[in-house]
Amino acid sequence: MKNLIKDDEKMRGLVSCFYHNVLADDRIRHFFENADREKLENKQTWFLATLMMGEKAGTADYMAQTHRALVQKQGLRSEHFDATLECLDKAMTESQIPAALANRLLVAAKALKGAVLNEMDVIDAGKQSSQAY
Ligand code: HEM
Repeated sequence: MKNLIKDDEKMRGLVSCFYHNVLADDRIRHFFENADREKLENKQTWFLATLMMGEKAGTADYMAQTHRALVQKQGLRSEHFDATLECLDKAMTESQIPAALANRLLVAAKALKGAVLNEMDVIDAGKQSSQAY
């Protein structure tokens, strides 16, 4: 998988900042409370890797599947998604990710909002078109 942040230390710094921001945020912390630390750090790395993959076929389905229980059983909604992106934005500033790359990752994240929140019409629309958002 292509990693757009080639500097490993920078990548680790970003994962760690993002991890701390999410757990310090009262709006979304509870979604992550059941996972252990190792699982969570893996999740944050995968989160970023998914954004770097961009608009690959299957990404929307994968995002919908991995977050379905959170939407249906834990009430994951738009405001939580936006809060998560704020944490990511802040983490990218804190770990000095270049602005162009930071913007690209935020755009990729926003494009996956409908899929993460399991809004099926968005997922179906994604299947019919291979065009990037
Ligand atoms: C574009 C936005 C998002 C991306 C790219 C993303 C990415 C991912 C990925 C790749 C996984 C699977 C990790 C694995 O394979 O174990 C995952 C799981 C998870 N995500 Fe997200 N995520 C996003 C938004 C969110 C939001 C908004 C929340 C909650 C506020 C959230 C909470 C979780 C939790 C709790 C899990 C673990 C589920 C479990 O294993 O039980 N994610 N996410």
